[in-house]
Amino acid sequence: MARAAILSRSMNGLARHLIILLSSFCSLALGRVADGDLMIADFEGNDWGAWRVTGEAFGPGPARGTLPNQMAVDGFLGKGLVNSFHGGDGTTGTLTSPEFKIERKFISFLIGGGKDPEKTCMNLLIDGKAVRNATGPNDKPGGSETLAPEFWDVSEFAGKLAIIQIVDNATGGWGHINVDQIVQTDRKPPQLLADAKREFRIEKRYLNLPIKNGAPKRSVTTLVDGRMEVKNDIELADAAPDWWAFMDVSAWRGRAVTLQVDKLAEDSTALSSIEQSDSIKGAEGLYREPLRGQFHFSSQRGWNNDPNGLVFYRGEYHLFYQHNPYGWGWGNMHWGHAVSGDLVHWQELGDALAPDPLGPMFSGSAVVDWQNTSGFGKPGRPAQVLIYTADGDPTVQCIAFSNDGRNYAKFSGNPVLKQITGGNRDPKVMWHEPTKKWVMTLYVEQNGKHTIEFLCSPDLKDWTRMSHTDGFFECPDFFQLPIDGDAANRKWVLTAGSSEYMIGTFDGTTFTPETPKLPGNRGRGFYAAQTFSDIPSRDGRRIQIGWFQTETLGMPFNQSMTIPLELKLAATAEGPRLTWTPVKELDALRAKSHRFGAMTLRPDTANPLAGVKAELVELRAEFEPGDASEVAFIVRGARIVYDAKKQELAVNDYRAPAPLRDGKQRLTIFCDRAGLEVFASDGLTYVPMPFQPKADDLALGAEAKGGDAKVSALQVHELKSSWGTQQARTN
Ligand code: FRU
Repeated sequence: MARAAILSRSMNGLARHLIILLSSFCSLALGRVADGDLMIADFEGNDWGAWRVTGEAFGPGPARGTLPNQMAVDGFLGKGLVNSFHGGDGTTGTLTSPEFKIERKFISFLIGGGKDPEKTCMNLLIDGKAVRNATGPNDKPGGSETLAPEFWDVSEFAGKLAIIQIVDNATGGWGHINVDQIVQTDRKPPQLLADAKREFRIEKRYLNLPIKNGAPKRSVTTLVDGRMEVKNDIELADAAPDWWAFMDVSAWRGRAVTLQVDKLAEDSTALSSIEQSDSIKGAEGLYREPLRGQFHFSSQRGWNNDPNGLVFYRGEYHLFYQHNPYGWGWGNMHWGHAVSGDLVHWQELGDALAPDPLGPMFSGSAVVDWQNTSGFGKPGRPAQVLIYTADGDPTVQCIAFSNDGRNYAKFSGNPVLKQITGGNRDPKVMWHEPTKKWVMTLYVEQNGKHTIEFLCSPDLKDWTRMSHTDGFFECPDFFQLPIDGDAANRKWVLTAGSSEYMIGTFDGTTFTPETPKLPGNRGRGFYAAQTFSDIPSRDGRRIQIGWFQTETLGMPFNQSMTIPLELKLAATAEGPRLTWTPVKELDALRAKSHRFGAMTLRPDTANPLAGVKAELVELRAEFEPGDASEVAFIVRGARIVYDAKKQELAVNDYRAPAPLRDGKQRLTIFCDRAGLEVFASDGLTYVPMPFQPKADDLALGAEAKGGDAKVSALQVHELKSSWGTQQARTN
């Protein structure tokens, strides 16, 4: 199945890298591998060697993983594999091995793709006759591009000459076949049992599940009293796990929960090792892991991407997020959920939305329905309403609601918006007071173009299309801000996944841009940011959190969120521009502050920060560069250099324009275990940067080059962890 590139972000991490290393010694040629096994082909070469190819589907040689417009292919070994998705599903062809002698009892291989025994298959031919046949697992939309191990018992053909033929004669959905690592062996590969199950009578809060990064993804169905509840694709560990995921089963206390696995090696301990427990496995070390951001939110376990449903409700900030609870890479999209009273200390509550028959839970937003337009509210308790994408086939928009910010119910009338055209996702909804209606911005691909569709609704349930603006991709956000705080002079900002934005006007129907698309953040690893809805008007701030793409190899979690950022519009000579600054609540993290008075920083000045060591750092500096060509700050190995001549900031060689403001530069640097965030030019320049300082490098520095800089203020705050003594979730 071809799917957009968004689906190709599943990562396999360390395990994959090791496998690549180990198997890069093999080649396509017939050869001997370990333990007396004979390699028929590992498809690591650049061409097909002695294999014969017909048609277009197989391409000029082994594929290096995923092909354009294909879902992420994994489960193969090394770098190369047979992947007949060249030119998409429409192409056909065959790939035939040279003749070889059957010298072992079994032929084992990895196979994936379409499940048609005649059209997308691999055959073993003896005397021109197909004596064995295998296919991939997929015969309907959805599914997975993971290759899985299989084998044939060929002992009855000992000594015969054989040929392997790989066939792609299908042109529709799943019209391709993937194969890798074909080996003759005498050791019987473990049988794969179909629909292996284990039943639990639920007495505790969690089932702890063993995960091996890079293992074949098994389809795991959770049944409650025999009824299908949810399906997830999980890299179950057949033996020792890399880490333990947890499934919250507290809602099913006293009931029978069955986990059913589509295919499981007969000797796998995956099911037998699952533990029912009141705590998550590894809770002792939770939030103290070496690469755990200490003041950047990340999920206890698994993967996160976009922040979703940011809303202030009943005295708490709610942060939902794209969550794979059962994998280190992207997949199984749930809405994770955390709350905070102060934007700094977050408490993870567990997943609020799980995949359902309409699809996995893709990104969206949340609002408080103050006037009970939806009817979900209760007297004195306005509903919090989540608006999200269910990415099934078709992709649709749905809603869910809560009256307490803890328990969520999906609307029985879902979906509330059918598929418009191709890709459409990531509804961001707000109340538009002048026209007294809900306005949704939605990413829609129309005629091959990325657009943001504007829709409206009286009740969050019936949606009408109004207009659209071209040129933005995924995760739109739309809000109004005063210029330089002047409430009489407000403009609308339209932004999306990349954080680029346009400023303009909105009449309740159409957005009219007054600027071209402007650059957003100036760093990397910042994506799909969203701003909070319903922040009380007495506060009036527009606060944003972005997905911070901090890869944390070797950890039981992956990725994180940026610190909360306050957005403003500032007037500049070029017109109004967005500024990003850290929210003031972060001051609460300051454990020890070092404040230096005004000083002149000369090329020969001894490092004024030599006496300060810190792991979690907030550094603030205000300076006039004077005749210095460079003013640099060193934070735990990261170099943050202000190039005074070019008025540019370089963060680890990542350059960004950073104009002086009234002749001065003001820098704020936050450094955590997996990332840096640098703010310059009063927030006009925001440079997020995934970065892992060395654990033992706690040094800080400040220096000038080429001349003297006048520093008016320099502060270093040693920060404490925002996780405090918090352990696993408490409610
Ligand atoms: C952006 C995105 C969204 C989608 C979500 C899926 O990162 O691709 O468009 O809803 O991630 O996880």
